[in-house]
Amino acid sequence: KTNQQWGGRFNEPTDAFVARFTASVEFDQRMYLQDIRGSIAHAKMLTKAGVLTEAERDDIIRGLGEIRVEIERGEFEWSVALEDVHMNIEAALTKKIGITGKKLHTGRSRNDQVATDIRLYLRDEIDLILSEITRLQQGMLSVAEREADTIMPGFTHLQTAQPVTFGHHLMAWFEMLSRDFSRFEDCRERANIMPLGAAALAGTTYPIQRDFTCELLEFNAPAENSLDAVSDRDFAIEFCSASSILLMHLTRMSEELVLWTSAQFDFINLPDRFCTGSSIMPQKKNPDVPELVRGKSGRVFGHLMSLLTLMKSQPLAYNKDNQEDKEPLFDAIDTVKGCLRAFADMVPALEAKEENMREAALRGFSTATDLADYLVRKGMPFRDAHEVVGKSVAYGIEQSKDLGEMSLEELVQFSDIIEQDVFDVLTLEGSVAARDHIGGTAPNQVRAAVKRAQQKLDQR
Ligand code: ARG
Repeated sequence: KTNQQWGGRFNEPTDAFVARFTASVEFDQRMYLQDIRGSIAHAKMLTKAGVLTEAERDDIIRGLGEIRVEIERGEFEWSVALEDVHMNIEAALTKKIGITGKKLHTGRSRNDQVATDIRLYLRDEIDLILSEITRLQQGMLSVAEREADTIMPGFTHLQTAQPVTFGHHLMAWFEMLSRDFSRFEDCRERANIMPLGAAALAGTTYPIQRDFTCELLEFNAPAENSLDAVSDRDFAIEFCSASSILLMHLTRMSEELVLWTSAQFDFINLPDRFCTGSSIMPQKKNPDVPELVRGKSGRVFGHLMSLLTLMKSQPLAYNKDNQEDKEPLFDAIDTVKGCLRAFADMVPALEAKEENMREAALRGFSTATDLADYLVRKGMPFRDAHEVVGKSVAYGIEQSKDLGEMSLEELVQFSDIIEQDVFDVLTLEGSVAARDHIGGTAPNQVRAAVKRAQQKLDQR
């Protein structure tokens, strides 16, 4: 038997392999809720437009409600022969309520139906992602506040550069995520346009009321152009792009956590519940969570490339190629949610090893720039000051002494304008406290940044 939904013009049944090859039900069934929601809105609109009677509409709504319950209970029988989520649900509806079920698809095509379902689905998922980003940022804020005075080495080229506070470092992470948040918000805004009414590609001859459906489904507006509405998937690409950037940020944080938990850095403790051991080396505690997040970025970057390639050169309007949008998009969603959840749970539990951070900051001549700035304040041109400090660092390397550990006599060898007050700037505390402006690492600035950030979060 040929397909009951479109088999009319066919003379032989679909090849069994082709049926499986072209089916999407195994992965698009996760949009059942959005498909049902869209169908209910469509039925209500058809009734308002005089295409369906109120009794027909009510039968449809009841039938779809029952189907929803069956799906949620795991009692619904998905059929590959029925190709996709849309035809599975429509066939089940017809089986349930009879001939009225066959009227639901009036003035609609699977092309505008699927384009609507994905947007509804993505919109819901973006909302979850936005709240997970906020939860993670909230965790960062609480650690940043707690660690506003904790001093660690700041790095460039992964070489000790200048002392910073751990709180300041966490607030850098916070900023990255603020931009990610607004990228997802933007993406949601552009995805939130309703394709329904575009039908297959050109619109429909029925007196549909798109504004009404749009309102029911809480879209911002009906799509302006029917050809564009059914065929473009740029919102999915945009989602994968925002996801890739977010994951890229998470890999940077992951990399730092992996370094910081190593015996060589030993800056933080990651509680046992976020780590795993080794089956052979009894001493091991591995930072699996950040490692895995770092690794999972690869699949999301890949999905971005898949979707770009999928859409490249597609002529208007719908092409079956578009069915391939779902798996990359869904996997990107799952991966982003998983990584955010892992991070949001883990970050508030980070324990700074203050002494080790401090010691590392003392080891790397991290206050060298402060000494140069001191000389400049005493009247020396910066380039000369750079040279003087360079010489004192060379001496320190030879003597295994940090600048702060040298005596005044030792320092004066390099410039006689150095006086006792030099030690105010050579301490780690003096160094960070001196960077006292918006965006600087001074503890009071970090606290002010945390406060501003908290206000931003509270306004979301
Ligand atoms: N399963 C299809 C998809 O995901 C639904 C749209 C099919 N439309 C069509 N004309 N074959 O894209």
